[in-house]
Amino acid sequence: MEYQGKTVVLTGAGSGLGAAMADLFSAEGAGLALLDIDEQRVQAKAAALRAGGVDAIAITVDVADQAAVDAAAAAVEKHFGCCDVLCANVGVQQFGAIDKLTANDWSWVHSVNVLGVIHTVNAFLPLLRNSQGGSRHVLLTASSSYFSPGVRMAAYVATKYAVVGYGEVLRMELAAEGINVSMLFPAGMETRHLESSVAARPPELGESMLNREDIEAMMASADIDTASHLATADYAVRNLLTELRDRQPYIITHGNYRKQVEAQQRAVLDAFDRMAANP
Ligand SMILES: NC(=O)c1ccc[n+]([C@@H]2O[C@H](COP(=O)([O-])OP(=O)(O)OC[C@H]3O[C@@H](n4cnc5c(N)ncnc54)[C@H](O)[C@@H]3O)[C@@H](O)[C@H]2O)c1
Repeated sequence: MEYQGKTVVLTGAGSGLGAAMADLFSAEGAGLALLDIDEQRVQAKAAALRAGGVDAIAITVDVADQAAVDAAAAAVEKHFGCCDVLCANVGVQQFGAIDKLTANDWSWVHSVNVLGVIHTVNAFLPLLRNSQGGSRHVLLTASSSYFSPGVRMAAYVATKYAVVGYGEVLRMELAAEGINVSMLFPAGMETRHLESSVAARPPELGESMLNREDIEAMMASADIDTASHLATADYAVRNLLTELRDRQPYIITHGNYRKQVEAQQRAVLDAFDRMAANP
């Protein structure tokens, strides 16, 4: 019961990875604030946890809306007083070739995946600072596409790079306060990610296009090790508590992207070598 008496705030908690994290932390005794745009699902998740004796509240919120996330933080403060672990987990997907993605596609994916993470940290940082003791963590959900980008994913991949860049600076800025920042890199998961992304898109931005051909092109281009790429969300979180306890900066859930990471790092180091050879 490592998290007995602690408060964990999770965005995107109505489904998939967020819901799996909710199960994980609640099994360790944590109280949970579950945030999601999907009211029905997040309420159902909180009710199921409460039925098992967990102190869980559900808040319906669009993380793209700073005022709404601030209101959620006020509700969490009222109920729990503080936050010990903040999981900024929401991310939406919008496939599309570079010349097919619309201005609305770009701004929506960025408003949720990048600004949504920033809004979440902005709103909950004072509550992390309120926490009286023990280890405090911010966990940002990135993606294995950071290591292995594929075609038709420019909008999504750009946001996950932004999340990682933001997280690197956040870690540096919070280090002196003892607040740990980790980034999670899931590979493919058997979740509702595609359908929940379509559902979460505001109607005024136009329908989200989801074409099987885009997904197939992405899979073919990304050099994905299909044997290890896909897992359940429960499997993806199996080592999360240990990784957080050890304050690991990067958490790989599953999938084998070592080859791609080595190739990219080698290319960058080669660029330094060429520069050094031509001072
Ligand atoms: N599923 C995958 O293959 C995969 C792979 C790598 C990374 N990820 C990342 O994992 C995270 C969780 O995704 P998942 O696979 O569990 O998907 P999921 O759809 O099962 O869960 C995501 C939840 O986020 C909610 N949501 C969507 N937009 C929202 C918004 N604007 N405000 C608040 N809530 C919103 C949805 O309603 C849904 O309940 C995302 O950041 C995603 O990018 C997923």
